[in-house]
Amino acid sequence: MPRPISITVDLDAIRQNFAYANALGVNASESSANGHQSNTLAVIKADAYGHGAVATARALDGKAALLAVSSIEEAVSLRQHHIKTSILLLEGCFCPSELSVVNELNLQIVIHNQKQIEDVLAQVLAKPINIWLKIDTGMHRLGIPVSEALRAYTQLVSSKNVRSVMLMTHFATSDQPEHPLLLSQIESIQKLAEKVSAQPSYAGCSLANSAALLATPKSISTWNRPGIMLYGISPFNQSDISALPLIPAMTFCSKVIALRRVATGESVGYGAAWTAKRPSVIATVAAGYGDGYPRTAKSGTPVMINGQIAPLAGRVSMDMLCVDVTQLIDISEGSPVELWGKNIPVNDVATWADTLGYELVTRMPTRAKRVFINE
Ligand SMILES: Cc1ncc(COP(=O)(O)O)c(C=O)c1O
Repeated sequence: MPRPISITVDLDAIRQNFAYANALGVNASESSANGHQSNTLAVIKADAYGHGAVATARALDGKAALLAVSSIEEAVSLRQHHIKTSILLLEGCFCPSELSVVNELNLQIVIHNQKQIEDVLAQVLAKPINIWLKIDTGMHRLGIPVSEALRAYTQLVSSKNVRSVMLMTHFATSDQPEHPLLLSQIESIQKLAEKVSAQPSYAGCSLANSAALLATPKSISTWNRPGIMLYGISPFNQSDISALPLIPAMTFCSKVIALRRVATGESVGYGAAWTAKRPSVIATVAAGYGDGYPRTAKSGTPVMINGQIAPLAGRVSMDMLCVDVTQLIDISEGSPVELWGKNIPVNDVATWADTLGYELVTRMPTRAKRVFINE
């Protein structure tokens, strides 16, 4: 048999997760006092968090009216694959020469600093652009300071190169809905929106990522920007997502390629980091950190073999890992293994590896081909 590793991406799961995200926005806007429509874009940067940006964009064709990526290269790749949906560049242009490509490919751009404003004002563009003006309301990573926001807004709307301006901010603590910084960021952008909302070029406000959309209804605004939840992963790093109607899209599978008995006191794997406390049965699985399984996952991390859960035993190698299957029944060479997916939440593995589900799925190497199902 070929090396049995597989990474399956369920595109219908992504479609259903998007529909749920979209419904959260629509329902919140219908019940809000102002009744303004709320829209939901799909964040598919970093190859759709490792799930495949082109396949995800195709799956959401006709469902998501706007896609968001990090760079012009990511947008160009989507256009080269005939994706026609509007695209937003979340970090805007990295140099002024990208503005002509923005025009050519019909992109919308974030502007997060004064240099990017000046670049837009200095050019003669073929068509005016839709701008998302990113305001730093407290994350202190990117964005125009609140004290300079009105001036930046006025500068932009006075340019023929600008069709509309959306106010935007990004939250530092949206996974902690009661955090005072989250509430102060929302207030800050809302105050600013009140000051400019009567202007003709004002397009609205964009605040909520996945966590805010799920847990902070008052952050729901003109455009919501969920990413991680579209892939069926909780932004709260919960392992149990049964509380959320999200369907994990990525399943990381392999097979048992060897089985052996080890006596009490014998060790398993590099560094002899795991030692049998009783006569044990060890299954060797064809998956390692070269395939995207985290090397930092500790002994005890759950692995599903032939429908049963067993603990990882010892250090993860580049191409293999070992599992203590002493307690399991019906295990043989060739038994199917789920490393994460619909049964083992990726956030569970992430917790055992001191990281987040975000990181594990996004950094999956291309060594194992993605297999797309339910297109
Ligand atoms: C500006 C911006 N908006 C939205 C998102 C989506 O966030 P999440 O994946 O937590 O939903 C990100 C992700 O990093 C982002 O940088």
